Amino acid sequence: MKKIVFFDSKPYDEEFFNQYNKNYQIKYFEPNLNQDTAHLVQGSEGVIAFVNDVIDAPTIGKLHELGVKIIALRSAGYNNVDVKAAFEKITIVRVPSYSPEAVAEHTMALLLTLNRKIHKAYNRTRDFNFSLNGLMGFVMLGKTIGIIGTGKIGRAFSKICRGFGMKVLAYDPYPASDSDLEYVGLEKLFQESDIISLHCPLTEETKHLINEESLALMRDGVYLINTSRGGLIDSHALLSALKTKKVKGAGLDVYEEETEIFYEDYSEMIINDDTLALLVSLPNVIITSHQAFFTKEAMDSIARITLDNLDKFFNGEELENEICYLCKEGEAAIECRKNRKRCF
Ligand code: NAI
Repeated sequence: MKKIVFFDSKPYDEEFFNQYNKNYQIKYFEPNLNQDTAHLVQGSEGVIAFVNDVIDAPTIGKLHELGVKIIALRSAGYNNVDVKAAFEKITIVRVPSYSPEAVAEHTMALLLTLNRKIHKAYNRTRDFNFSLNGLMGFVMLGKTIGIIGTGKIGRAFSKICRGFGMKVLAYDPYPASDSDLEYVGLEKLFQESDIISLHCPLTEETKHLINEESLALMRDGVYLINTSRGGLIDSHALLSALKTKKVKGAGLDVYEEETEIFYEDYSEMIINDDTLALLVSLPNVIITSHQAFFTKEAMDSIARITLDNLDKFFNGEELENEICYLCKEGEAAIECRKNRKRCF
């Protein structure tokens, strides 16, 4: 049996992977993968990694030296991987879609909680405080929501928003040809939305898409929801905008410095991140710990597709879920796929 090392493992990961694993001897490790933990792969040909593993050039170099041939990401996003550094060294595969609805539904949960102040009401009534002061929300029917990124999740979320009777404005440099979404320029979306929700990947282009300048374009009292990647928002700029009430509420499932923090229990410690501590302390900010995907259905698909990606790799079959820095959108991708079963 081939040996595989699993990083950033939690009991729920083991449960789902053990249910489907037949072909591999998987060693589950709790630490994240990074330069310092890469040595744990000794004797393994594959690695299973997640969103907060730091798969940069030095880590890739070490894994390659130790004989790792494949990194199977159990996530859709891959901004944490230096794909170029992996080229011709280690094959990278991912799970491009496991449950867009899981993320879309969590996005709406954040918005509804923020709007109707459910988090505050829950705490109040547990303390037998039945006052309504400060709990007033707004009706979502007729409000304008701007959706940035209309891939699988953005579109699933737009359907939910339309169910609420909201007007949806969309921005995507590659608009979906098969959708009836109203696409507008980014500036118009910023200016006309009551609520803005981010569903695009984190790339060099989208890093700090929400910054001082874009925040200035937005409506006073805008609500901001991010279930995509933390780096899309400049957290300092967001904090300032929350203080001036430019942003009336923020629902964040991701945070730009989440790598060392999310998925861990720091309840008995003092957290060493002042920005996060401030954000958490604000009554109109809700932070969840990168859990939008976290449903039974998504965990099930993640385990099955990740193991299937490994099987296909080790059997020399076509890898439809491979990520390659040559295989971006367009012709390069088509050529790459045409000529080889795998990119390298
Ligand atoms: P997708 O690949 O189906 O859609 C992404 C969309 O973003 C595409 O339509 C693409 O054209 C668009 N896009 C690319 N560059 C853009 C730009 N500069 N501005 C606006 N749009 C741009 O991906 P999917 O499955 O919808 O996932 C979206 C993101 O959600 C992922 O990149 C990932 O970061 C995040 N995610 C978060 C999870 C969570 O648990 N919080 C779970 C899964 C994904």
